[in-house]
Amino acid sequence: MFQTGKFVSNITPQVASKIGANLHLVKGHPIRIVKERVYNFFKKYQPGRFPVFDELNPYVSVKDNFDDLLIPQDHPSRRMADTYYADTSTVLRTHTSAHQTTLLRSGCDSFLVSGPCFRRDSIDGSHYPVFHQMEGVRVFDEDALGEQTVAEHLQETLTAMTKHVFGTEVETRWVDEYFPFTDPSWELEVKFNGEWMEVLGCGVIQPRVLENSRLPGRSGWAFGQGLERLAMILFGIPDIRLFWSADERFFKQFVGVDPSAERLPRFIPFSAFPPTSRDVSFWLPAQYNAHDLYDLIRALGGDLVEDVKEIDHFDDTRSGRTAKCYRLVYRSMERTLETEEVNHIQNAIRVAIQDKLGGVLR
Ligand code: DAH
Repeated sequence: MFQTGKFVSNITPQVASKIGANLHLVKGHPIRIVKERVYNFFKKYQPGRFPVFDELNPYVSVKDNFDDLLIPQDHPSRRMADTYYADTSTVLRTHTSAHQTTLLRSGCDSFLVSGPCFRRDSIDGSHYPVFHQMEGVRVFDEDALGEQTVAEHLQETLTAMTKHVFGTEVETRWVDEYFPFTDPSWELEVKFNGEWMEVLGCGVIQPRVLENSRLPGRSGWAFGQGLERLAMILFGIPDIRLFWSADERFFKQFVGVDPSAERLPRFIPFSAFPPTSRDVSFWLPAQYNAHDLYDLIRALGGDLVEDVKEIDHFDDTRSGRTAKCYRLVYRSMERTLETEEVNHIQNAIRVAIQDKLGGVLR
C-alpha cells in the first residue's frame, strides 16, 4: 500500500501483483477461449460492426467508473470497502462499463471491451478480487432501426449470441433487473444442466448516459458479462482459483480447444485435495467492514483459502461490543496441505486481526 497525503490506497500487494496478468489475452487460457467464442459470434453475424478493445488501462477515473454511468453518490459500490482506490479520483475499474462513455465520446458507436475488473468481496469458490468482464455497446444512427425498437434489437442479438455460445437448443429467459445506466434492464439466464443461471446484464442505455457521451438524442443498448462465470458454466470448472493456478493438469485440458467448436470439452477435475478448516473469533473494532478481513486473509493465505464464512455473531449488550466467529476453509487446488503450513498461516492471520484490524481475539 502506498500513501499520498492523507489518503491511503486500499490496493493490496496481492491484488497489485495481478493487474497485468490479463488472462483474457493468454493463449490457450479458458478465459480467452470463451472470450473468443463470444467475439466470433459478432464477427460472423455483424462483420466489421464491433471493433475490439482488449488492452484498455484498468485504472480509470471515478467519473468513468461511476459518475458518467449515473451511479448514485451514496451507492455502496463506491465505498472504499467495496472498490480499490489508487487515489481519491482513480479506481481499479469495477466493471468494463467504465469504458462506455469514453469510447462513445471518441467517436466509436459500437464496440466490445474485455479486461480484468477488481472488487473487494467475500471469499468462496466463485469470488476472486480480480475477474474478467466483457462489455458490448451498440448505438444506432437516427432511423437505423426502422420498425424495430432498441429493446427488440437488443434481445434478438443477445439471444442469438447466447445460442451461438451455448448451442442452439439452449433455453433462455429474460429477467427484469435494475442498473443505473440502462432502462429497461434485464439479466439473461440460460438453463444449464437443469438449472437457470444468469449469464449477462444488459439494457437500453439511459438518455443521460448518451448525453454524457456527447450523443444526445441517440439510442442504443449495452451488455456486460463475467468471463469466469461463463467459463465455469461452459467447461464445468468448479473453483475460480483454478484460473490462476499454474498446474499443468488444468491447462493441458485446454490445449488446442477451438473456441468455435460446436461442443466444448468438459473439464475433468483432478482428484480433489482434502480441505481443512480453522475458526477465528474476535471482538470487532469500532470501524469494521468484513471486506477488510477478507483482503487481509487473501494477503496472508493467498489462493490456499477457499472459503470464509461468518458462523457466529454475538452482541454483548452490557459492553456494547460485538464479536464474530469466522470459519476459514483451506484447500490447495494442487496438493494436500500440511497441518503446520495451515497453522502458520492461521496464526499470521490471528496476529494481523489484532495488529492491522484492531480486533481483540477471544
Ligand atoms: N456493469 C454491470 C455489472 O458489472 C453489467 C452490465 C449491466 C453492463 C447492464 C451493461 C449493462 O453494459 O447494460 O454488473
